Amino acid sequence: MTRGWQITLDEASPRVALIELDAAALTPGADERGDVEVAVAYSGLNFKDALAFAGNPGVVRRSPLVPGIDVVGTVTASTDARWAPGDRVLLNGAGAGETRPGGLAERALLDGGTLVATPAGFTDAQAAGIGTAGFTAMLAVLALERHGITEGDVLVTGASGGLGSFAIALLARAGFTATAATGRPENAARLRELGAASIIDRAELDRPSRALESQRWSAVIDAVGGQPLATALSQLRQDGAAVSCGNAASPALSSTVMPFILRGAALLGVNSTLTPLARREHAWARLARDLDPAVVDATTRIVALEHAAEQAAEVLAGRVVGRLAVRVGASTASTTTATETEPA
Ligand SMILES: NC(=O)c1ccc[n+]([C@@H]2O[C@H](COP(=O)([O-])OP(=O)(O)OC[C@H]3O[C@@H](n4cnc5c(N)ncnc54)[C@H](OP(=O)(O)O)[C@@H]3O)[C@@H](O)[C@H]2O)c1
Repeated sequence: MTRGWQITLDEASPRVALIELDAAALTPGADERGDVEVAVAYSGLNFKDALAFAGNPGVVRRSPLVPGIDVVGTVTASTDARWAPGDRVLLNGAGAGETRPGGLAERALLDGGTLVATPAGFTDAQAAGIGTAGFTAMLAVLALERHGITEGDVLVTGASGGLGSFAIALLARAGFTATAATGRPENAARLRELGAASIIDRAELDRPSRALESQRWSAVIDAVGGQPLATALSQLRQDGAAVSCGNAASPALSSTVMPFILRGAALLGVNSTLTPLARREHAWARLARDLDPAVVDATTRIVALEHAAEQAAEVLAGRVVGRLAVRVGASTASTTTATETEPA
């Protein structure tokens, strides 16, 4: 038997429990591959995982579901020639914790064609600390680079969160000047340590905006959507670009066409879940090159598997700073330095 979280949607409220899971609970759907068995060391608590714990049917796409969109661990069996027992692997998304069983259980049956070798420079705890948030932040920076934007002032919204924190660190490392927009000014010192050159209050963006405002940003990495993104679009410089990554504020977007037709602005999208393998590998190679493991440790808090549900509620309430990695089982690379903190 395998210990793990299970979310069941029925007509009333969702049922959420940490239980001994049977084989059926861990088996992917008939049209999904599960050719690599992984002993899970760590998962994470992303915004999407928090929505799953709340029973959001847009995330909980099968019921019952083992949540956890991030999986970090060691291969124990494989019929995929790319992987062998003992290999350290990680997975971000690709349906895990949504359409198929995810990382918040001690064992996972994964599709070998979606796995990335965990970079040697990261412990399992650090790989989970980076997780989908850091992976997506890297994809956003890569999207800007593909668009030809390699320098200048970049606004990061939702800066205290996982995606925002890693975006700031990666932008600073790549030579951009990052401005952090946050609703929690008490985190300013931490955001400056990550590499933010300046901090603005989220309220500066969360107000009705004009079609075009003073040009401030070469680019925007946006984790929140809604009015803050609309305002940021109106402040893009000529030929600037905004990367839409999230909807922590709202999925709505009400803009005018003016930034696009008068300033040549671009709105780029990132969907980490469906990223092809070659781009996953490229992004993780860049993370290994550019992200100091000490920054990951400073950004990550490790929580015990038992506390995942209560910590998920904290994520939804907007009270978590940085990243939460969840210790699921034994790790083969557990030189963990991230602070272990029991929830208050
Ligand atoms: N596209 C993708 O593939 C992808 C991948 C990962 C995440 N995402 C999405 O990106 C978003 C951020 O993810 P995350 O894991 O970084 O979440 P997170 O750690 O919970 O961070 C979200 C941050 O957004 C800000 N925020 C929260 N509520 C807000 C509100 N009502 N108005 C404005 N800002 C608000 C907060 O930052 P401050 O306190 O600093 O303001 C919060 O720390 C989520 O919507 C998530 O679903 C998308």
